[in-house]
Amino acid sequence: MGFRKRVRLETEFSEDTVDRDPVRQLQQWMEEANDTPLREPSAATLATAGTDSQPTARIVLVKKVDASGLMFFTNYGSRKAKELDANPKASLLFFWDPLARQVRIEGVVQRVNAKESVQYFKTRPRMSQLSAWVSPQSRVISSRRELEEAVRRLELQYAGQEVPLPPFWGGYRLVPSVFEFWQGRENRLHDRLRFVRTGGGWIIERLAP
Ligand SMILES: Cc1cc2nc3c(=O)[nH]c(=O)nc-3n(C[C@H](O)[C@H](O)[C@H](O)COP(=O)(O)O)c2cc1C
Repeated sequence: MGFRKRVRLETEFSEDTVDRDPVRQLQQWMEEANDTPLREPSAATLATAGTDSQPTARIVLVKKVDASGLMFFTNYGSRKAKELDANPKASLLFFWDPLARQVRIEGVVQRVNAKESVQYFKTRPRMSQLSAWVSPQSRVISSRRELEEAVRRLELQYAGQEVPLPPFWGGYRLVPSVFEFWQGRENRLHDRLRFVRTGGGWIIERLAP
């Protein structure tokens, strides 16, 4: 039960101790998630809905969080991208099981500029860069072999060179208007604090668990 011992269910989480800035609060929880035995602490569920209003969800890795929003990267031709282009309202959800924490974020997305996408693309392992080029994300393909062969061809094409950013690949930034922090409490009532953006700042409210 070593894993369980790491659960800090008695961590105080209240209106008095929470950061007044939800971005800083999220950064703090992400740092704590980084220190827990999680394979992908930056993984979040991204929920979108296109013009048909059908909600869809999938995991993305949140690569950067700052005052401007939460950044993730994907293929601009993918299903999620098409839905976001038709309806930029989206939700991101983190769940950190070992910490009994959930963070729910709502807002609108915008594409990040190519410079930011290039900056991130350069940090990816070479194989991930090549995969981004060859994968027509979310489309039906005939076989895995098709992708593997395309990677091999591209490896030769870019031998000894940097792999450039594909024009159909890049980041989105979710600009948040609502955050909800959920902290599980052992044998007690769970804590839920919601931040709603107002003109210049944030209103903090407690929600019933
Ligand atoms: C742990 C994990 C991390 C992932 N990270 C990303 C990511 O950062 N970007 C991305 O486009 N897909 C990522 N995926 C794959 C997506 O969940 C999804 O399968 C893919 O983006 C296609 O989604 P779509 O058809 O709704 O556009 C990840 C999946 C998992 C399980």
